[in-house]
Amino acid sequence: MYLLRPALFALSAETAHELSLKALSADRRGDWFRAGWSASKRLRQDIAGVTFDHPLGMAAGFDKDARCYPALMSMGFSSVEIGTVTGHAQAGNPKPRLFRLKQDRAILNRMGFNNRGAEDAAKRLQKTRHLSKSGVLGVNIGKSKVVANEEAEADYAYSARLLAPYADYLVLNVSSPNTPGLRALQAVDRLRSIINAVRSAAEPVRDTPVPLFVKIAPDLENADIDEIAKMAREENLAGLIATNTTIRREGLKTNADIVESLGNGGLSGPMLRERSLEILKRLRSQLRDSQHLISVGGLSSPADAFERILAGASLLQLYTAFVYEGPELIQRIVEGIDEALETSPYTTLKAAVGAKA
Ligand SMILES: Cc1cc2nc3c(=O)[nH]c(=O)nc-3n(C[C@H](O)[C@H](O)[C@H](O)COP(=O)(O)O)c2cc1C
Repeated sequence: MYLLRPALFALSAETAHELSLKALSADRRGDWFRAGWSASKRLRQDIAGVTFDHPLGMAAGFDKDARCYPALMSMGFSSVEIGTVTGHAQAGNPKPRLFRLKQDRAILNRMGFNNRGAEDAAKRLQKTRHLSKSGVLGVNIGKSKVVANEEAEADYAYSARLLAPYADYLVLNVSSPNTPGLRALQAVDRLRSIINAVRSAAEPVRDTPVPLFVKIAPDLENADIDEIAKMAREENLAGLIATNTTIRREGLKTNADIVESLGNGGLSGPMLRERSLEILKRLRSQLRDSQHLISVGGLSSPADAFERILAGASLLQLYTAFVYEGPELIQRIVEGIDEALETSPYTTLKAAVGAKA
């Protein structure tokens, strides 16, 4: 498929994405792309009661409406996090709202949670989830734009009730820069109350408690990160996902005037790498050993991946590097992790996680 990349890159970023989604969503069972490789057994892990064949998953935002997760799994991702899904269907921000910064191998987006809503996603999952059981499904939920922050609990709970039955794990997204006021929900008292509402909503629709993660922004102050880590311990979350996109504009090669002319939004790609790793280390030192960190942000090579594993990430995700490099990157990273393990003192992935934290 990525022979088509030059053609896709000649189109606007959003048109290219929409075309890719259309093509991939035709593969309802996830058997078109069957990767001609399989991950080494020692990369398998049990995380919060869920088996991941290897640590690399597709981050949220690529498959917002659960249209193509089977194809992504068949390309070799061990997990796909669908969403962000909101309680209400919503159009998102006016276009254009998605830009490539090629010189930086970065993406700027202000999509604004465009998605067909929780009811639609639940219907699609009901139709398709049983067809492709080959990967882990994360479900990332967020607040609808029309719902005031004060009413956020009920909105998250609504999505959780509909989607928890299909989720191997659930993520509360409180860190997108593109929904006004959303990141204020990272304040720990608000987070606690949303977590409780979501747990109460999910409990009656599942046989087992849903593993719950919270996804945080890279732009938080360290003191706020520490508060969130403390809350995560007290609430016994399955873990945290760090990080979402950044509103900062430092460290780019692209001309500053061009970047400014693109307007607001979250940046993703290599400029996130350092901060994402720093936050990972900070969180690892504060969570319980039984709690997990999913590291995302600027990850694009086997070396990045292994560095984050040693720093304490049980799981890894990426988005932007996949857009620039295509599906071959999955195998390269997963096999690279296995080779790094081979020459390390650790015999299993589990033993390597956090070994240098
Ligand atoms: C176009 C685009 C849309 C995104 N949409 C979402 C989203 O809906 N929910 C979410 O939690 N993260 C979203 N993200 C953030 C990614 O999941 C990820 O956290 C971020 O891009 C950093 O990883 P990367 O550098 O590998 O891209 C989006 C990212 C991009 C590039």
